[in-house]
Amino acid sequence: MVLQRLRKTRRACQLGLTSGQIGIYNRYIREHEGWEKHLSESRQAIIGAVEVFKPQSICILGSGLLLDVPLEELLSRNINIVLVDLLHPAQIVNKYSSNSLVRFETHDLTGGLIHYLQTTRLKDLNFFTLLNLVSSANAYASNADLVVSLNLLSQLSDIPMEFLRHKKVLTDWQGIELASTIQQKHLESLSKSKSLLITDIMEEFYDDQGKLTATRPTVHVDLSLLTQVQEWLWEFDSAKTYNEDAITKLRVVSGLVNKKG
Ligand SMILES: C[S@@+](CC[C@H](N)C(=O)[O-])C[C@H]1O[C@@H](n2cnc3c(N)ncnc32)[C@H](O)[C@@H]1O
Repeated sequence: MVLQRLRKTRRACQLGLTSGQIGIYNRYIREHEGWEKHLSESRQAIIGAVEVFKPQSICILGSGLLLDVPLEELLSRNINIVLVDLLHPAQIVNKYSSNSLVRFETHDLTGGLIHYLQTTRLKDLNFFTLLNLVSSANAYASNADLVVSLNLLSQLSDIPMEFLRHKKVLTDWQGIELASTIQQKHLESLSKSKSLLITDIMEEFYDDQGKLTATRPTVHVDLSLLTQVQEWLWEFDSAKTYNEDAITKLRVVSGLVNKKG
């Protein structure tokens, strides 16, 4: 029992569950200028979808610090807001928990992979068990009039994948296969509602002269089902703290996911 609790705490740390959000905030402070365009494009895309669907309720997946959420605007339209994240930052909960239009829900949107990685012994982790867990998991279902997946899709797979790679549990192809399955399940869950997807799809690495030197895809699923697509570049890291060899920009897309059935 004590061992299990210790493992859970240690794994939360190794998975970077809290430090990830702190990292986002610190980078936002440092890179404020470069981030503002991305944050503003994300907020605009949400307002655009609100104008299309005129929802009375909205569910934001990956709400985190709300940097990219036009929360005051949504509140001024009297929209009920459900904020979903693995972990809600204390300052956000303190600020909005007494607002009757705002509700917080805590879910692992991988369908339980994070909990599994936190509680399972390393020697019991293997590709086929993980793939089976992700493929058969029940996806989170929202009954809100509009669902927004907000700068989350690549994170959903990156957080477990970084840990599994570091612990050498998966080979490269197994990592990509598992990441694709996590992302595909998320996309399928979005297609059950009227949804807006905002996600980075590619890391782009630049040298000091502004020349593109390399790229790495962050999304491994087909996004051709999106409509009303917009695309922009997120000036993510100019200080080379993310990749010490290059300035990193992220290619981001937003688009409506058409409801199936
Ligand atoms: C890049 S942030 C999105 C930006 C966020 N809206 C903000 O302003 O901070 C990704 C968010 O997804 C959340 N997240 C990552 N993996 C998750 C998972 N498996 N289930 C639910 N939320 C997750 C993180 O906690 C984080 O708050």
